[in-house]
Amino acid sequence: MQWTRKHLLGLEELSAEEITFILDRADSFKEICTRPNKKVPALVGRTIVNMFFENSTRTNISFQLAARRLSADILSFSKAGTSVAKGETMIDTALNIEAMGVDVMVLRHGASGAPWKLAKHVKCAVVNAGDGQHEHPTQALLDLYTIREVRGRIAGLTVGIVGDIAHSRVARSNIWGLTKLGARVLAVGPTTLIPRDIEKMGVEVCHDMDRAIRECDVLNMLRIQFERQGGHNPFPSIREYIQMFGLTKERLKSRPDLVVMHPGPVNRGVELSPEVADGPQSVILRQVGNGLAVRMAVLQLVAGVE
Ligand code: CP
Repeated sequence: MQWTRKHLLGLEELSAEEITFILDRADSFKEICTRPNKKVPALVGRTIVNMFFENSTRTNISFQLAARRLSADILSFSKAGTSVAKGETMIDTALNIEAMGVDVMVLRHGASGAPWKLAKHVKCAVVNAGDGQHEHPTQALLDLYTIREVRGRIAGLTVGIVGDIAHSRVARSNIWGLTKLGARVLAVGPTTLIPRDIEKMGVEVCHDMDRAIRECDVLNMLRIQFERQGGHNPFPSIREYIQMFGLTKERLKSRPDLVVMHPGPVNRGVELSPEVADGPQSVILRQVGNGLAVRMAVLQLVAGVE
């Protein structure tokens, strides 16, 4: 197929063919990342700007490194230290930066829909690096890439997404991607952390962690986003949450083949015990490594370079 999209905003709007195209393209970048010289001249002369209005470690650094590996010029800024902190709007900031000659803007923003709004105002390509509780497409793409790499396929697998699904853009993008590629998806967690109409996205709801461990090929453990609970406790105590949904070594004993994922950052001892996070079934750092190849593929495609 030919890549025709200008932006990468969300997985809801991508077809299975487009998602697979990105994953296949990432394969070739993964190989490049193993060479002594990891740099390719694909985006020489292009300028990419990382606009991070929300905190990030993995996504921000991964996009910066991906741009550098492609030989692009990359600039990064966060809200603190820019005129956004003085009250300038995101769109005014973006238009001023674009006036200096920018090819791709990578945006992380706390407001759901912010990348779509930005894409309406600028002429350059926009990549969503996570918007509010809505989508985090490159995280889902690297999760899909990792599942395909470890399991050899996605279609026909059962993947459990566990925990704070209500506040998770990672969950939403994963659900779109996994269901489009033919996986069965279980949304696992307490009633208070699973949106009421989630089944409309093509997933099954499961409140029983032990059943999820029995039925799933992969578990993607989500961080409890304590900062997004709006002052309400979604469960009586953290201890109770850990007892019901925490993934421990004991719980995993019956399934030595189960693949354990987490998008990070991890609340160690809450959604995962440290032994599981660092154990042989965890692919958490492999996900981070694969993110680089996936983001190189995405940047190359939206920059319009074949
Ligand atoms: N997974 C993820 O988005 O991590 P960061 O918030 O550190 O970018």
